[in-house]
Amino acid sequence: MVGEDTDSENPYSTLNSNPYGKSLEVFADESVLKEDWQPEQLPERESELEEIRNALAPATRGVNAHNLFLYGKTGQGKTVAIDHEVELLQEYADSENDLDLSVIKTSANNQTTSYQLCAHLIKEIRGKTKKPSGIDQQSMFDLLYHEISNLEKTVIIVIDEIDAIGSNDELLYELPRARKNGHIEEQWVSVIGISNNLQFRDNLSPKVKDSLYDSEIEFAPYNADQLTTILERRAERAFVEGALDDDVIPLCSAFAAQDEGSARQAIRLLYKAGELALNRDEEIIFEQHVREARDILERKRIEEGMRSLTTQDQFALLSIVALEIDEETPARTRQVFQKYKSIVDRLNGNQLVERRVRDHLQSLGMQGFLLVETRNKGIQGGSHYRFELKTDLEATLDILGEDSRINDIVEDLIDISDVKNML
Ligand SMILES: Nc1ncnc2c1ncn2[C@@H]1O[C@H](COP(=O)(O)OP(=O)(O)OP(=O)(O)O)[C@@H](O)[C@H]1O
Ligand SMILES: [Mg+2]
Repeated sequence: MVGEDTDSENPYSTLNSNPYGKSLEVFADESVLKEDWQPEQLPERESELEEIRNALAPATRGVNAHNLFLYGKTGQGKTVAIDHEVELLQEYADSENDLDLSVIKTSANNQTTSYQLCAHLIKEIRGKTKKPSGIDQQSMFDLLYHEISNLEKTVIIVIDEIDAIGSNDELLYELPRARKNGHIEEQWVSVIGISNNLQFRDNLSPKVKDSLYDSEIEFAPYNADQLTTILERRAERAFVEGALDDDVIPLCSAFAAQDEGSARQAIRLLYKAGELALNRDEEIIFEQHVREARDILERKRIEEGMRSLTTQDQFALLSIVALEIDEETPARTRQVFQKYKSIVDRLNGNQLVERRVRDHLQSLGMQGFLLVETRNKGIQGGSHYRFELKTDLEATLDILGEDSRINDIVEDLIDISDVKNML
């Protein structure tokens, strides 16, 4: 028979001989654990969704929606919440003849000036791959107004990761007022900005704040209970029945809650733990898989973050690591600076002044390497900072040690750390 013939020639014909052909089932629908999977419900964000709805509602009454600014740390459901509400509004518009709606949704990622962001928006509206260029800023803004005037009567522009544009934020001032200033006649335009960079929000110029901030919605970090319900809903669809030991979801939630309260992180942990079990032909996911998953993801996170560090960032990070080993953290800027000087001396590096070193320490805080505590100085005014390492010490030392420029110092620190551990 033909079938027999093929089987005998096929090197993978017997069950399990092909390494990809696992018979074990852990996942029922793995796609539910992927980053781009869209949840239908967000009960943990009910009040934020309602605030967004209230801000968008004027659009259904024939005037412009409020401008809106959403902020909160990474993985808090900001993007997914806006997607959810904008989709509902679009559905409503499609079913009602008297709401003519255009939604432009984009990320400002990599657009570091108003000019670039404006060109990027024009490209998005035109649906073309090429950005306009070679004209001055005002002409670029005018071009955007022209494109907007070809859209429906109600225009909502969602700009995710809006912090990319930094202090070059003129567009954020101009765009919400375009109608008031006569640049656009027919359309009602509103802007929704989203950011996980709290410094950006604090540093926005007062005139942009005034223009962009009809409503501001904070997405506070999820607590362990909220992360648990988020994971439970995913797990129900993602895993076959009985694949999860009882401790697994609470542990994933606890780890993520202790860190930034990020739903993304919690979901990644659960997914990784599932993969670890499956790759080892184990049918049930246990606490141990979660612990291992955490170590793997933490290492990956440090490695990725480390790639974007400047040499001065590295010096500052090394200073904290050294203080951490000496058990002198959390440390004040002055203390870190002393350590920094000795490290830079030894490496013959370029030495910055204390204030600049503090900037680097704060930037390391933003990037998730350090915990930064701010203390007010009381009646003298001002504030001072205390820094400590947030990432895992051993993994951080290990990864820093891979850089040949600073390898010697790191080796010494590892030795000191080992001796301390032995005592
Ligand atoms: N309440 C929730 N219920 C279900 N899934 C959620 C919830 N909140 C967040 N998620 C999921 O967590 C992940 C991160 O959410 P999202 O991308 O919206 O975060 P974000 O606040 O925009 O983060 P960032 O600032 O990094 O862009 C997504 O996969 C999203 O589907
Ligand atoms: Mg987002």
